[in-house]
Amino acid sequence: MRRKLVVGNWKMHGSRPANAELLAALLAGRPYRADVAVCVPSIYLNETAATLAGSDLRWGAQDVSAHEQGAYTGEISAAMLAECGCRYTLVGHSERRACHAETDALVAAKAQAALARGVTPIVCVGETLAERDAGQTEAVVKRQLSAVITRLAHCAAEMVVAYEPVWAIGTGRTASPEQALAVHAVLRAQLQAATGHGAAMTILYGGSVKPDNAATLFAQADIDGGLIGGASLKAADFIAICRAAH
Ligand code: PGA
Repeated sequence: MRRKLVVGNWKMHGSRPANAELLAALLAGRPYRADVAVCVPSIYLNETAATLAGSDLRWGAQDVSAHEQGAYTGEISAAMLAECGCRYTLVGHSERRACHAETDALVAAKAQAALARGVTPIVCVGETLAERDAGQTEAVVKRQLSAVITRLAHCAAEMVVAYEPVWAIGTGRTASPEQALAVHAVLRAQLQAATGHGAAMTILYGGSVKPDNAATLFAQADIDGGLIGGASLKAADFIAICRAAH
């Protein structure tokens, strides 16, 4: 049986005092029956690592460079994330795809760079509302995932996938369990065909997961946990979501 995973995506939120308070609350809320991680702004990784070290809570970044090192001003390499003890990094979040023009190929290169340094990429895929309305959901998520599978080749089974319909992110509009399940089944079949390990791989759902809908979503057989944005900034909400995963 797959173990559930709940990942908080803080996005560009936080401050030293607020982070300290939030992480202390998450530590105090243990034990959780699921694996729990927070993906924090990179500038806070060292402090997060110092706070969570020795606990079973994990941490990660929200993005990583596709390059090893070099003249890439402002970028952060997978080796640097590994040095900060990152277990995970998000790659291809829809906000990066939309606001930073990240292509499927770049997302795949980032996932590969992360894995090469032992940092598990959480590869985000998802359709826009226009794509869903046009009946393209399946084609879009398959295309996004296929780019990564092809690039990672025999290592593809080591990634985590997060299905995040763009129309559900930060909108308060959650995909119904049926809508999420339908896409998770497509992704799992694709992973199984490509890696032979699809049944063992973790596929998260993200997009307006809240304490009041988390348990229903996580109860679906193919949903292995969540990627949580807004609700991961409120300790009580995030703890409630983590507890809903088991
Ligand atoms: P949300 O964000 O939970 O605020 O909808 C999810 C995400 O962007 O990962």
